Order: sequence, then structure tokens, then C-alpha cells
Amino acid sequence: MKSLKIAVAGLGTVGAGLVKLLADNAGIIAARSGRAIEVAAVSARDRSKDRGVAIPDSVVWYEDAAVMAAEADVDVVVEVIGGSDGIAKQVVETALARGLSVVTANKALLAHHGTQLAKLAEDKGAALAFEAAVAGGIPIIKALKEGLAGNSIAQVTGILNGTCNYILTTMRETGRDFADVLAEAQALGYAEADPSFDIDGVDAAHKLCILTSLAFATPVDFQSMHVEGIRHISAVDIEFAEKLGYRIKLLGIARKTELGVEQRVHPCMVPVRAPIARVDGVFNAVVAEGDFVGRSIYEGRGAGAGPTASAVAADLVDIARGCRTPTFGVPVAALSPLPAAPMTAR
Ligand code: NAP
Ligand code: HSE
Repeated sequence: MKSLKIAVAGLGTVGAGLVKLLADNAGIIAARSGRAIEVAAVSARDRSKDRGVAIPDSVVWYEDAAVMAAEADVDVVVEVIGGSDGIAKQVVETALARGLSVVTANKALLAHHGTQLAKLAEDKGAALAFEAAVAGGIPIIKALKEGLAGNSIAQVTGILNGTCNYILTTMRETGRDFADVLAEAQALGYAEADPSFDIDGVDAAHKLCILTSLAFATPVDFQSMHVEGIRHISAVDIEFAEKLGYRIKLLGIARKTELGVEQRVHPCMVPVRAPIARVDGVFNAVVAEGDFVGRSIYEGRGAGAGPTASAVAADLVDIARGCRTPTFGVPVAALSPLPAAPMTAR
């Protein structure tokens, strides 16, 4: 069978990690996909930069990612540049308009334009896949779309930002200060290009509204969310919480109430005996409650090159196999808006 040819837009933490994963695991991926996955084109701004990964001479380099999306002879465009608008949006729209499938790790883009992009993908018969956009290496999109598809979901809750969990954990374990640990998370490739998205809760909110859409079959709604980050949490807060038997975690909470869908992101005091309290470092965890399955918990690394590349590769294998599930689990016309519920007591 013909190989699946892909173009990778962005060769930073995630893009370079993906190129490495596809090279290292080419054999097993081809066996699972029924065909090889071939990197045919790549794009990044600075061609001279050392990416820590070999790009074969046969791969076509584009300095302009939009030109690559418009012209490259490929089946799939992988967008791992980032940002809710600008070049990332242009790349995704251009590829979908050509009928090419798109894999993206870009939760900001989906939080702001997800429903509209899903419609474009549907109209063109293309896949728009985004396992890497939420909770890093945890296959939570697949879990909600497929594993829990037979359930009515009441609530989805989780630790959705690896950078914040890494900061809170390291401050608790070492007493180091916030700025110092944030710099370390940035060096490890966990943080967003603008780390205020992480520490102010915006990144977790981007991810939560995507999970909400999947869980409740509603259009993506970022605007109605309550968002609060961890910028104001001090070492003393963490220490007092510990003495009282709690851990401070930045949680995203989405639940269906009689009044609509409540979505919020904020630091929470979690009892130490709760499983989610013991999810430390860069790990994320998501708890989903379905009417027949009950409570299920998913845990894994939430950021970094390896886990994120793993999630992108999973989408590519799906596409290579010919899977075309609707972007948010149901066709866009079947997404039914629910009113945003007022905040209830925490
Ligand atoms: P990154 O390390 O900053 O890499 C971004 C890449 O995009 C760089 O290679 C950059 O090129 C390239 N780029 C920027 N503007 C461009 C343009 N105009 N044309 C072509 N290329 C351009 O970012 P990242 O951490 O890999 O994140 C990428 C995406 O994945 C984001 O949406 C992020 O939210 C998401 N994500 C990241 C993680 C993580 O752990 N890092 C996890 C999940 C999801 P140069 O290298 O030449 O500057
Ligand atoms: N900056 C994000 C985080 C990357 O720390 O969780 C993974 O989406």
C-alpha cells in the first residue's frame, strides 16, 4: 500500500519529537497502520537551527508553512506551530480546504475556532484530529469519543496543565520559588510559548472546553468559562494546605447541571487521600463520570516532546488506517448548544 505522506508545520519541541518518533518506530507504526508514514515536507522559520533530529535530504523544506499547506504533495498536514490565529489557523484552513486531513496539537486554535474548523473538515471529507491537544500523552480524546461513546457523561474533571502541576509539585517538594521552577518547566519544553497561558489557567481552559464539547456534544465554548491560575499561590499556601491534609491542584471542571454546562478552571484544595492529589510533576489526570461505566481515571505525562509526539502519532496511525470519526464525536450539525450554567459553590 502507498505510504501516508505527511507535512510537519513546526519543528520545535513537538514537531522535532514527532520526526524522531516516526523514524525510531517506523517499523511498528507501519505494521499497525498497514502502510508506512513518511515525512515528505517540513516547515520552520530557521532552517539552520539544530533540532536534535536528522531531517533526511529527501524531505522538502518550506520556510513558509502556509505555502507548504497550500502546495506540498502530501495526504496530511500536522500543525505544531501554535497560536489561536495567524499562521497556525492559516495552515489548518488551507490544508482542510484542499481536502487534506489535519493533525494538530493546538488547543488554543481549537478553543477559539474548533467548531468552525470541524465543519470545514466535515464538508471536505477530511479528518481533523487533535489527541495531542489535551493532556499530552493520555489518550483522553479517544476515550471520550470511542471508549465512553455509549455513556451519558455527567462530569469531566482533571489536572490539564503539566507546567502548573510541575510547579506546584516542585514547590511542595523542594520549597523552591515559583519563578525558578517555571524557568525549569520552560527549559524542559513543557510551557507554552507565552507561559502566562499556563500559569494563568488559560491553557487548561482551552483544553477543558475541548473536553466539554466531546463529553456533552456541544459546540466549543471558551468564552463562558471561569478561569483562574496559580500565579498567586505561594510556598506558604502549599505548606498550610499540606498541614491541613490537602494538596493544591489546578483543576479543570466541566459538568452538566439542570441550568446548563458549568466550566471552570481554578486552584483547588484536594484531600491528600484522593487519587488525583497524588498525580505529581508533569503528569496530568482526567476523571470522567459516565452513567453506565461509572468513574474512570486516566493518568499520564501531560507535556513534553515524547508524550505529545506519541499522541500526534496515534492520530496519524488512525488516519493511515482510514478512520474518519467526526472531530468532536458527532457531526457538527448534531452539536447542541447548552446554556452556560452560573457558577455553583466549589
Ligand atoms: P515550539 O517549541 O515553540 O515550536 C514551534 C515551532 O513552530 C518552531 O519550530 C518554530 O520555528 C515554528 N514556527 C513558528 N512560527 C512559524 C511560522 N510562521 N512558520 C513556520 N514555522 C513556524 O512549540 P511546541 O512546544 O512544539 O508547541 C507546538 C504546539 O503544540 C503548540 O500549539 C502547543 O500548544 C502544542 N503542545 C505543546 C506541548 C508541549 O509539551 N510542548 C504539548 C501539547 C501541545 P523555529 O523553530 O524555526 O523558530
Ligand atoms: N504547556 C502545556 C502544559 C503543554 O504544560 O500542559 C501541554 O499541552
